[in-house]
Amino acid sequence: MRIALITGGASGLGLASAQRLAADGLVVAIADLNPDKAASAAASLPGQGHIGLAIDVTDEASVRAAFDAAQQRLGPVTVLACFAGILSSQSVPGRLPTVDITIAEWDRVMQVNARGTFLCVREMLRRCAGRTVEQGRIITVASLAGQMGGMQSGAAYSASKGAVLALSKVAAREAASLGITVNTIAPGPIDTPMLQQTVAPGHGDQKYLGTSQVPLGRIGLPEEIAAAVSYLVSPGAGFVTGATLDVNGGMLMR
Ligand SMILES: NC(=O)c1ccc[n+]([C@@H]2O[C@H](COP(=O)([O-])OP(=O)(O)OC[C@H]3O[C@@H](n4cnc5c(N)ncnc54)[C@H](O)[C@@H]3O)[C@@H](O)[C@H]2O)c1
Repeated sequence: MRIALITGGASGLGLASAQRLAADGLVVAIADLNPDKAASAAASLPGQGHIGLAIDVTDEASVRAAFDAAQQRLGPVTVLACFAGILSSQSVPGRLPTVDITIAEWDRVMQVNARGTFLCVREMLRRCAGRTVEQGRIITVASLAGQMGGMQSGAAYSASKGAVLALSKVAAREAASLGITVNTIAPGPIDTPMLQQTVAPGHGDQKYLGTSQVPLGRIGLPEEIAAAVSYLVSPGAGFVTGATLDVNGGMLMR
């Protein structure tokens, strides 16, 4: 039985990925800030045995406690997907120009997206040290913004996702000897609550302002990110590590 821990799993891309991995036969621990939301998300997954857990990915002790709880209730986590993230610490929709970014905003976004991913990856690697993990997988979540500079998102978010991209390559090198692959998914605009924060008032019911810049002519679906997660977790992806999988409708081709 493979045990997956998914941070940010109570909403959006994390939830869609939890649903997909549960359908693939994994047992899933959904870890999110709000334990009630995590528990009800876990209860909605197909199959048996899934659990919801509280986690604040910015907090070292909370990350450790979530892994402890998953291990006690389910067994050792061998698949980690780091979806917890924020676009901004502010509720004002739309892109924040760099000149308007406060230190508090910069620090908060870096804490959740960069430090949060680091703490979860580190915890997994610490627990797996000294043994070989069968089909071990870590999936981190960057963004097109971290590759190209944000279009609808600002400097703090883009920089935090650049950090995730670099961290993941380091982790891929270090985890290889443990049998764990580490790969990053870099989504373009995907239809979730987060994307809707990029649309400032006055733009009607648009979900994304830059749809005309997407070669495939639409925004993506959470299920399309979940399908990428499913592939990276599958046995067939065992020789793929240190990769960045672009799921962006063709907005970045390389
Ligand atoms: N939606 C997109 O277009 C898009 C594009 C590129 C990258 N991403 C990335 O995908 C990931 C998921 O985004 P989403 O669109 O599903 O967003 P979302 O807002 O729907 O979900 C994010 C989840 O993370 C959780 N979270 C936030 N801070 C946390 C913390 N400190 N500890 C634990 N959980 C925390 C939230 O409670 C929420 O459940 C994020 O890392 C985001 O940056 C999304």
